[in-house]
Amino acid sequence: MIKLNKVTKKFTLGTLGLFDINLTVEKGEFVFLVGPTGSGKTTLFRLLIRDILPSGGTIIVADYDIVKLPQGKISHLRKKVGVVFQSLKLLTDRTIFENVVLPLEFSGFASDEARIRVEEVLSQLGISEHRNKFPVQLSGGELQRVAIARSLVLSPDILLADEPTGNLDQITSREIVKLLLDINSKGTTVIMATHNFDIVNSMKKRIISLEKGRLIRDESHKEKEGDK
Ligand SMILES: Nc1ncnc2c1ncn2[C@@H]1O[C@H](COP(=O)(O)OP(=O)(O)OP(=O)(O)O)[C@@H](O)[C@H]1O
Ligand SMILES: [Mg+2]
Repeated sequence: MIKLNKVTKKFTLGTLGLFDINLTVEKGEFVFLVGPTGSGKTTLFRLLIRDILPSGGTIIVADYDIVKLPQGKISHLRKKVGVVFQSLKLLTDRTIFENVVLPLEFSGFASDEARIRVEEVLSQLGISEHRNKFPVQLSGGELQRVAIARSLVLSPDILLADEPTGNLDQITSREIVKLLLDINSKGTTVIMATHNFDIVNSMKKRIISLEKGRLIRDESHKEKEGDK
């Protein structure tokens, strides 16, 4: 489902974003991506949605060859891969409903169908009551849910969440992770980049660690029966 082979990303001026990354994530997995600031987590996500191209290596995401993907097919890839950006990237002059409906509008959904789908995800994330508010009127945890709702509205196969619990308290952070686990249990592959080791250590999920652009650890924690 996601396969990286010898992937390197050098930025202009020579900064190394990622170096010689080999990684496979199977359909339906839940993976934590950890590593200090500047270790390459966001760079990896940007490569997976073809926001940037690698300097070397091959990347397959949902059957698309990222390096060879023609410009005109990038939108096809982005429908299969939802992203929650570190900076959320919500539009401040639009309501929550308008923010979440946007990907459906871009994809040409009829407005009735789009409305039904938006109401469905807003309800799934527990934020229906905020549909007519603007981002500035919501708390950090609520905004994080809005960003997740927007990334889910096209029912992607893969969800990339970049530090979705940054700046949130422990309780809200756990609620967000629980939402991501629910989404994963319905079949979506989830990769969550995080610095929150309390959560990572309590979850018994696969943990991929980056350091200075290198993949230094890949630990799978098999859940035992009755251990959930
Ligand atoms: N557009 C860019 N141009 C030059 N260097 C960049 C660019 N984007 C990222 N980098 C560098 O690449 C490295 C990896 O950055 P990245 O944003 O992937 O780190 P990160 O693991 O997401 O960090 P954080 O935990 O702070 O979000 C850093 O050294 C960063 O300065
Ligand atoms: Mg980052």
